[in-house]
Amino acid sequence: MQRIPVAGPWITEKEIQYVTDAVTNAWYGNANMFHERFEKAFAAYVGRKYAIALPSCTSALHLALLASGAGIDDEVIVPDATWIATSAPVSYVGATPVFADIDSHSWCLDAGSLEANITPKTKAVIVVNLYGNMPDMDAILEIARRHGIAVIEDAAESIGSEYKGRKAGSFGLASAFSFHGSKTLTTGEGGMLLADDEDVHQRCLFLRDHGRAPGEKQFWNTAVAHKYKMSSMQAALGLAQLERIEELVERKRQIFSWYQEALADTEDIVLNSEAPGVKNTYWMVTAVLDAKMGWTKERLIAAMAERAIDCRPFFYPLSSLPAYEHLEQAAVAHSRNTIAYGISPYAINLPSGLNLTQAHVERVVDSLKALLRNGPYDAKL
Ligand SMILES: Cc1ncc(COP(=O)(O)O)c(C=O)c1O
Repeated sequence: MQRIPVAGPWITEKEIQYVTDAVTNAWYGNANMFHERFEKAFAAYVGRKYAIALPSCTSALHLALLASGAGIDDEVIVPDATWIATSAPVSYVGATPVFADIDSHSWCLDAGSLEANITPKTKAVIVVNLYGNMPDMDAILEIARRHGIAVIEDAAESIGSEYKGRKAGSFGLASAFSFHGSKTLTTGEGGMLLADDEDVHQRCLFLRDHGRAPGEKQFWNTAVAHKYKMSSMQAALGLAQLERIEELVERKRQIFSWYQEALADTEDIVLNSEAPGVKNTYWMVTAVLDAKMGWTKERLIAAMAERAIDCRPFFYPLSSLPAYEHLEQAAVAHSRNTIAYGISPYAINLPSGLNLTQAHVERVVDSLKALLRNGPYDAKL
């Protein structure tokens, strides 16, 4: 039986042509020809002034935090349900992550929990557009403005999503996208940092090139900084994907609608939501099971894997990870973040790769339904 992967890209002849062009021609004086086109087109697509192509979203978040001025003795609020790439850069700059709860519908940062976690040490908040959904941006921006804290948007999973007509990645001081191989738009590995403020942009250009502003004296560095660059082959791949972004996003929404249709008669499963005014691009179709069904995510993923279907666990709350067990406030978050802790044990990401067909989705759903009907069987997991 053919294995169904959990994620994967949609690559066409266009991508192959652009990458071939880059590997053949983007050297010497032409080394940046694809970066310039990719960055300009990406900024225009999202509706930002500036874009910088980078090796990852993690590096983009690192630069954004440095530009926000967050450092030692500062706190940066992050949602408790996300990939550690959101919070790791907080530690890179010497600040402390503070884990706020998520909203029960969007699974993104809860505005009330954000406000409750603000202290005099809070320097910034990183909002995450989880699985392509959008948080309540109006409320979050208003709270951040009132308390004078910077907003950084982790848009890693949300290319093409919208909040009240504005594209994901257009909010706050800076925003970051991921082009990891699992993402809707991929460059294999890669990321993009976006901003509207000229000073923020210039600061990030300086910090990503070993402490040297573009055009400055060669091999003459005025600070110890970072080396965060994307290759021209990746930029070419990204440009080709961006030129196809409408069909990539449409395919993601179609995959979600196939699941929605196939699971319409199934009670006790909640799929990704889409609030009025939000366009969700469903990066990962996610099923939250009712706890009373007796299935944990680990058990269900193992059972699906036996049927040659790869799923992923919903993110473990960051505050539950061994990486953060030394943080006093991780223990506090553990008892306080009831939504993140309530959803995470019972939720899985279903196969959402761009090469999925409706027949694949039906196979996934048939397996899921059969498992749920028969109940959990392997008490060891
Ligand atoms: C929410 C979120 N933030 C950040 C990242 C980091 O992206 P990258 O792997 O490009 O550094 C990811 C990647 O999976 C992510 O899902």
